[in-house]
Amino acid sequence: MNDNDLDALVAAARTARARAYAPYSRFAVGAAVRTADGQVFPGCNIENAAYPATICAERVAITTAWASGARDIVALAVIADTAGPVAPCGTCRQVIAELAPTALIILANTAGARQHTTAAELLPGAFTPESLP
Ligand code: THU
Repeated sequence: MNDNDLDALVAAARTARARAYAPYSRFAVGAAVRTADGQVFPGCNIENAAYPATICAERVAITTAWASGARDIVALAVIADTAGPVAPCGTCRQVIAELAPTALIILANTAGARQHTTAAELLPGAFTPESLP
């Protein structure tokens, strides 16, 4: 992945953010994952009147890729209108640890801030498939 690929992934996350369904929080989040073969899958948060049924943008992007048969996620970008790079929630960190464990994670905000991180940095000591007997 070169800088253009990373810029394109953040741009895809920004585009996906415009499709967020967030009538309750009014907090729109966009995400996009890139697979090893260069496919890009978008995600946005999808809320629900039964609030806990809400799905975060990151999990929509990751599960959309998996549902399409993609497994090798090499990068995930997330973007929101936050003061600094957006912080993924704990549940998303857990899902990233299992379904995109080696991906480059790009945390962004709409003002242009960006931070590169990893699944291991986001959730040290994660419970993983290897944790099960
Ligand atoms: N949200 C995400 O989509 N991703 C995050 O990383 C943080 C939170 C969503 C969930 C909910 O729709 C709204 O943002 C407020 O929590």
